[in-house]
Amino acid sequence: MSVLRVGVIGYGYWGPNVVRNLYALEACEVAALCDQNPAALQRAHRTYPSLHTTTDAYDVLTSPDIDAVAIVTPVWTHYDLARAALENGKHVFVEKSFTATAHQAEDLVELADRRNLRIMVDHTFLYTGAVKKIRELIDKGVLGPLYYFDSSRVNLGLFQHDVSVLWDLAPHDLSIMDHVIGEKAEAVVATGACHVNDHADMAFITVYFPGNVVAHINVNWLSPVKVRMTLIGGRAKMLVWNDLEADEKIKVYDRGVNVTSRQGVYDLLVSYRSGDVWAPKVDQTEALKAELGYFLDCIGTGATPVNDGQAGLRVVRMLEAADRSMAERGSVVRLS
Ligand SMILES: NC(=O)c1ccc[n+]([C@@H]2O[C@H](COP(=O)([O-])OP(=O)(O)OC[C@H]3O[C@@H](n4cnc5c(N)ncnc54)[C@H](O)[C@@H]3O)[C@@H](O)[C@H]2O)c1
Repeated sequence: MSVLRVGVIGYGYWGPNVVRNLYALEACEVAALCDQNPAALQRAHRTYPSLHTTTDAYDVLTSPDIDAVAIVTPVWTHYDLARAALENGKHVFVEKSFTATAHQAEDLVELADRRNLRIMVDHTFLYTGAVKKIRELIDKGVLGPLYYFDSSRVNLGLFQHDVSVLWDLAPHDLSIMDHVIGEKAEAVVATGACHVNDHADMAFITVYFPGNVVAHINVNWLSPVKVRMTLIGGRAKMLVWNDLEADEKIKVYDRGVNVTSRQGVYDLLVSYRSGDVWAPKVDQTEALKAELGYFLDCIGTGATPVNDGQAGLRVVRMLEAADRSMAERGSVVRLS
């Protein structure tokens, strides 16, 4: 496969991770880096002295020498930058959240389809060993039919000035949930509050799925402790993923409830099962490297990435629905 030339826009907090991982991939060359802040480019030059840099995104977006663009800027800039990249025939890797509105996401998906270009939305967690293992366990039926997905992503800060905790942290959990449950969400209910500035700093989101599967996501910038914990309950087994554990991030519990009689509600016999606990081996490869490698593969083969524009759109629709529900103090917002 020929080497793909990738331009990166945005070298703030997350951009250096994207650039570093692109540098590590043989199938690509980092052709240019743009940041409107010259200090960010000086920082990049210290690590990559020969990297071509610019403060004007359009140098990257219109360059005939660039095949794909990675957009690592704040959410409100994604749409204009991604649209310009697609219009100039570039494949697009864009950070979460894909866009600021579902309408923008639909427009980008349609444009990419029409131009036969790939969009990948950076849902990094899908490429972690933990999420790959969880998906494998669910696909193999180890957990049995799912009951619930319950995720907490809380810590003190980092307050963002342009987005709420919902748009900053919940895309991680929503994209993981979307990927492992693999069903179309039906409705969203959310509550939350702003305590420090005009953006919500804590939110509780409930997502309803067909078959009585329910997901709950707790995101909070005002927590005294850091928690990154997901519980997934199935009829056969239950799983705990503690992302802060160095080893044994995932534990599968042979625990649950057995209903032995259903003849009538009064003679329902419930017994509790408490069996072995098992910690499956989890791949430790850096997720972003695997994800970017897969992005380059998809460009080469024409395959549609798992976390394509449609996946990004599903997450943005849920975020919009959660915003609406939260504004109405927990109304049920249906996803069409
Ligand atoms: N996948 C992940 O785990 C993950 C983690 C952190 C952030 N992110 C996402 O990455 C994106 C960037 O977040 P961040 O924390 O790095 O933000 P940041 O504010 O630290 O950095 C953004 C950079 O983009 C530059 N920039 C903004 N608009 C520009 C433009 N039009 N042209 C050129 N440069 C421009 C800014 O100067 C800044 O250096 C966001 O979408 C965020 O949600 C993803």
